[in-house]
Amino acid sequence: MLRGLFRTKNLDDILAAAGGPQFALKRTLGAFNITLLGIGAIIGAGIFATVGTAAAGDAVRPGAGPSLMLSFVITAIVCGFTALCYAEMASMVPISGSAYTYSYATMGELIAWIIGWDLIIEYAVGNVAVAISWANYFRTLMEGFGVHIPSWLSTDYRTAARLAENNPAQYAIDFGGAPQLFGHAVIVNVFAFLIVALITVVLVWGIRESAGFNAGMVLVKIIVLLFFIGVALYYVSPSTMVTNWHPFQPNGWRGTFTGAALVFFAYIGFDAVSTVAEECKNPARDLPIGIIASLIVCTILYVIVGAVFTGIIPYPELVQKLANEQAEPLTMALNHAAPPGVQWPSTVVAFGSVVAHTAVLLVFQLGQPRIFFSMARDGLLPSVFASVHPRFKTPHVTTILTGVLVGGFAAFMSIDEMVDLTNIGTLFAFVLVCVGIPILRMKDPDRTRPFRVPLGAWLLPMLGAVSCIFLMYYLPPASWWRFIGWLVLGMAIYTSYGYTHSGIGRTLGRPLRAPLPIKIAALGFFLVAVGLFTIPHDANPAALVQTATTAGTEGHDRALIGLALILLGAVLGIFGMVVGSSQQSDGEDAAR
Ligand code: ALA
Repeated sequence: MLRGLFRTKNLDDILAAAGGPQFALKRTLGAFNITLLGIGAIIGAGIFATVGTAAAGDAVRPGAGPSLMLSFVITAIVCGFTALCYAEMASMVPISGSAYTYSYATMGELIAWIIGWDLIIEYAVGNVAVAISWANYFRTLMEGFGVHIPSWLSTDYRTAARLAENNPAQYAIDFGGAPQLFGHAVIVNVFAFLIVALITVVLVWGIRESAGFNAGMVLVKIIVLLFFIGVALYYVSPSTMVTNWHPFQPNGWRGTFTGAALVFFAYIGFDAVSTVAEECKNPARDLPIGIIASLIVCTILYVIVGAVFTGIIPYPELVQKLANEQAEPLTMALNHAAPPGVQWPSTVVAFGSVVAHTAVLLVFQLGQPRIFFSMARDGLLPSVFASVHPRFKTPHVTTILTGVLVGGFAAFMSIDEMVDLTNIGTLFAFVLVCVGIPILRMKDPDRTRPFRVPLGAWLLPMLGAVSCIFLMYYLPPASWWRFIGWLVLGMAIYTSYGYTHSGIGRTLGRPLRAPLPIKIAALGFFLVAVGLFTIPHDANPAALVQTATTAGTEGHDRALIGLALILLGAVLGIFGMVVGSSQQSDGEDAAR
């Protein structure tokens, strides 16, 4: 085996390094503030943007219909298992760094790298989705004030292309005025880019979200969701809603579970609370309470919103709505319920939604650079990532890098794809955190655990891991291909950089420059990743092979080239790793 790939960081070292006076953060947060922080990170694009697709379905997934409320319950249970695991980890390792730090302590460097790399999907790709949704609701809000933002400045090209295909007349109305470049309409989500740019400037400057400011935002979010529920019940009688809830599962359990996998996005964020561990007055007690309480509050709100939403619009009508309308389901639902011409309720919801999205953007744009920062400090990324601005004292390099990446992608990507990718990446990180609980209980049984997952080391963590994998199964093939491609790309970077530069690696005597076999493995991983990004993403493996082997089918060339790259890369990757391992063992034998 290559030297020390699974070498863990000592928990005492991690705690000691974080506990030094130079790093000490002020301990000001209690359980109530932590719950508010959790809600601040949780309620955002998930509830305001994904419920439309989750209920109605789309080309690649069946809709949950009225069983959306059940989807929310299922996902809450899955998150509940993981929340208990996060609570045990966070109370035992009460330092900032989240799942990346935990896995370094439990499963070693390679898994820590994979998690850190994977968390980029949760934080950065998640924020791409939130920024896109922000732009949608911002346009509606401005519309409510009589200011018209052209669709071509607040929509991505691919969503517009889908509309052109499905409803050319509507496309002509929405995008007919778009400027042309070389015969193509210019459609760029400039507003999604602008909000990320603005937040990046604020974060580099160093304005940290204060607990008071967060509490204000949380209040707005909750009030606006209650407002949605109240107005809906005012316009639509409960008996009509009950009628609209039949059939409850128009696509059976498959629809319900597929909806659960999609609305998982709405729950992401409770884990981000663990990053404030060092700022808690009593992390052992307050963190578990905060994580679990925020999850419970959000679940109650979500289930009611889901019930009301599907009670307002009958399922057959919902599936007729266009993708761009479904991207803004709550305002769409209110417009449907209110008498013609009454717009103010949807303007109020749009306002609350813009606030909610902004709060989530802030939390994750703040979190991502700090994860990069921790990884750079451990030597897994270049040290420039760990630099701090001399005047503002913020991790400016990683903050700007995150801003450029998130803003750039937000201008061009479609929200559903980004949500699916975020979900699969985050679920995978959750699996590893759940698995980490029994491992750490075995490896370090005597460590004080102020909070323990109830019912032993195995039952609930394993239920957590299995249920997360279960939800991953219900995500579309495209998200799987992209996710695996992302992980393999991460392996290419680890083998070509992190392996030789890691702080732990240095202490283990790894070579300073990657030996040839490792370089070959890195090239192999890179080719596999390119291949995975090249193949058509809407097919499952069997369909993909068929496309590649049948000339003349749509996507044949891409499938063929992609599969060839994957095969070649896999051969190189395996060869490099095997030769690298045997050379390593020879070296170790010779040294003995
Ligand atoms: N849960 C967060 C949201 O829904 C990511 O925006």
